[in-house]
Amino acid sequence: MKLLVTGGAGYIGSVVSALLLEAGHEVVVLDDLSTGHEDAVPEGARLVRGTLRETAADVLGGAGFDAVLHFAAKSLVGESVEKPGLYWDKNLGESLALLEAMRISAVPRIVFSSTAATYGEPESTPILETDPTRPTNPYGASKLAIDTTLAEYARLHGIGGVSLRYFNVAGAYGRQGERHTVETHLIPNVLKVALGERESVHVFGEDYPTPDGTCLRDYIHVADLGRAHLLALDACTPGFHQIFNLGSGNGNSVREVIDVCREVTGRDIPAEVSPRRPGDPAVLVASSEKIQSQLGWKPERDLQAMVSDAWTFLRSR
Ligand SMILES: NC(=O)c1ccc[n+]([C@@H]2O[C@H](COP(=O)([O-])OP(=O)(O)OC[C@H]3O[C@@H](n4cnc5c(N)ncnc54)[C@H](O)[C@@H]3O)[C@@H](O)[C@H]2O)c1
Repeated sequence: MKLLVTGGAGYIGSVVSALLLEAGHEVVVLDDLSTGHEDAVPEGARLVRGTLRETAADVLGGAGFDAVLHFAAKSLVGESVEKPGLYWDKNLGESLALLEAMRISAVPRIVFSSTAATYGEPESTPILETDPTRPTNPYGASKLAIDTTLAEYARLHGIGGVSLRYFNVAGAYGRQGERHTVETHLIPNVLKVALGERESVHVFGEDYPTPDGTCLRDYIHVADLGRAHLLALDACTPGFHQIFNLGSGNGNSVREVIDVCREVTGRDIPAEVSPRRPGDPAVLVASSEKIQSQLGWKPERDLQAMVSDAWTFLRSR
């Protein structure tokens, strides 16, 4: 298939582009390099530099694309709270420009990077796709609005859409890995301590109702997540919008993650306990039963593999 990957110079988009190329697809990456890196675009993919709003229509126009995989977004929760307008403009506004360009050029399918943040604080765990969506920040709210827009474009314009709601993505795939300038994710931040780039890890709260008192999160290896995109692409059905959670179905605590990082790196990683952060739920774990039963996807790599691949990637740079 001829595929447009928006945000393909970023962490997840670059891994998925590599997997798509390996599967024999033609890949064009559209990225404004606002948080991505030109050298992350895998060999064999063509990079078009630009925003979705300014460039998507030109790239898609009359070019016979079969589908879009849409990763491009701003995704810092804290920043979204400080600048909600930016998130509505960049996430919803630019996605709308992309969808309009798809409609005009009759591109039939889209796979979209949605997020666990669309659910907000869960009432029960593991989280099902049918659970209430009550995002607690503009990042999650803007992603939920894109899910809703996709459902409308499916219903009214016949596009086939799949939203994949990622939980905590980690690990690396060959030369593609996590290189966020502002890093908010636990595993790379713990590994930075092992590398000597940070002094210690902050553990926010150890009095949660969990086995070791620290928060539980659902980690998924970026290569497993990537495989799900190939399945989702095949599952896009004209006129339908489908939503699937993407997580391992298991929770790992902050302490467990730090211990695995110590084991993998063989280094001492000092940890300091700080008070709870407001709005951090004790447990955020996905039910991935729907994607397992409907698309036949299953996670294959555990936390050890995520940390070990991320560590190899970080040390190679
Ligand atoms: N990393 C995670 O754990 C996680 C979890 C849930 C959801 N997601 C979602 O997955 C997607 C990818 O995340 P990531 O961690 O790879 O982020 P990233 O910042 O590494 O990648 C995003 C890419 O999109 C590009 N981009 C941003 N806005 C653009 C625009 N308007 N036009 C063109 N290019 C633009 C950036 O330059 C970057 O290369 C995002 O949509 C994010 O919200 C990520």
